[in-house]
Amino acid sequence: MTSMPMQPWFSDAKLGIFLHYGIYAVDGVPESWAFYGGRVPHDQYMKQLDGFTASQYDPGAWADLFARAGAKYAVLTARHHDGVALWDTAHGDLNVVRRTPAGRDLVAPYAEALRARGLKVGLYYSHSDWNHPDYASVVHPEPPNEDVRTNRFVAPKDGVEDPDAWARYLAYRNGQVGELVDRFRPDLLWFDGEWERSEEQWGMRELSEQILAGNPETVLNARMLSYGDYATPEQGVPLTPPDGPWELCLTVNDSWGYQGQDQNHKSVRQLVRYFTETIAMGGNLLLDVGPREDGTITAEQTERLEGLGSWIARHSDAVYGTVAGLPAGHHYGPSTVSADRRTVYLICFDTPRESLSLRGLRNKVERVSVVGTGTELAHRVIGGLGAVPGVVWIDAPEAGDVDEYATVLAVELDGELDLYRGAGRD
Ligand code: GLC
Repeated sequence: MTSMPMQPWFSDAKLGIFLHYGIYAVDGVPESWAFYGGRVPHDQYMKQLDGFTASQYDPGAWADLFARAGAKYAVLTARHHDGVALWDTAHGDLNVVRRTPAGRDLVAPYAEALRARGLKVGLYYSHSDWNHPDYASVVHPEPPNEDVRTNRFVAPKDGVEDPDAWARYLAYRNGQVGELVDRFRPDLLWFDGEWERSEEQWGMRELSEQILAGNPETVLNARMLSYGDYATPEQGVPLTPPDGPWELCLTVNDSWGYQGQDQNHKSVRQLVRYFTETIAMGGNLLLDVGPREDGTITAEQTERLEGLGSWIARHSDAVYGTVAGLPAGHHYGPSTVSADRRTVYLICFDTPRESLSLRGLRNKVERVSVVGTGTELAHRVIGGLGAVPGVVWIDAPEAGDVDEYATVLAVELDGELDLYRGAGRD
């Protein structure tokens, strides 16, 4: 069984918020990787359990912030590679309910708060669990790197496999995923950690059948390998869009989880660029924040989300309900196209001087206006010969119509977008 065609909500969402929330926020160390790589001794890492309070946990405030950011979904780390579940799982006892002062399920109130504000619910879940006693029991047939072959949290000692232990591990993972689906009914399951085993070892087919039997509308990311619905480039910005639906996940600073020393936050202007470049290629942006152990999101990250949200709110016509924009060469910058393909939105990062050009447009332009202020701009077509259209020159907006982050022009056409892609002579 493969999943249904991509859920339309996903392609229309444009922006999601990724949350790496877990015990790693207590000391502010890299999520799970801190002990995997030996940077922090394992027992010291696990001591963070005692400091994880979630004392200010207010998923309603999170959901309000995400709505202000213009996001339509969020994805919370229900369980990262360190194996610490944020809900009261019946499988294993490593969870924040039983093992931390937080002492309660954090997933149900999150799902409720998002739904109350009309946001879709995503849950991140790592196939791998570097703390599970049965995990390091089989060897990847073609290890993608040396670590996967030798790391003590991943590979069996001396390479000796224990298939029974692995069967127990899969029962544990399938049991936990089953709980997530039954109890929280996520709209999206965002898997990770798939690189340490083969698709067969993971039993991906069975897992995907189990999930879709529970809820056939669950969206799955590509870390379900062949059973994923969409590609997930991570931190790396694609130059050509991946095939099919996709989502770029990107951190606001350089860390997925909370790390107080990391002050390398992207500016709002940079985030507007990442965001518009992504949607202009038909993708979604999944922008990551790392809440502190008490559940609060830092002022720096809040400010970035609100800044991006205020830009989106001023330009929502150019964002929601649009599809990928013009190929490179027609306009110097990203663009989007309305669903009826009769309006092109040109995004301009720099302050336009004198005029802007739109090239290779076969349509007649009915009207050009500034999104947000509505000011109409004069335009004229110059040149062109035979089948080669002339250049549409648009007067630059006045200072009052220039947006501090990115100005957007709506170009209304006489029909569906029709582009000339030739070499300039018919
Ligand atoms: C990488 C990191 C992991 C993070 C994930 C998010 O796989 O190892 O810590 O959760 O990216 O995409």
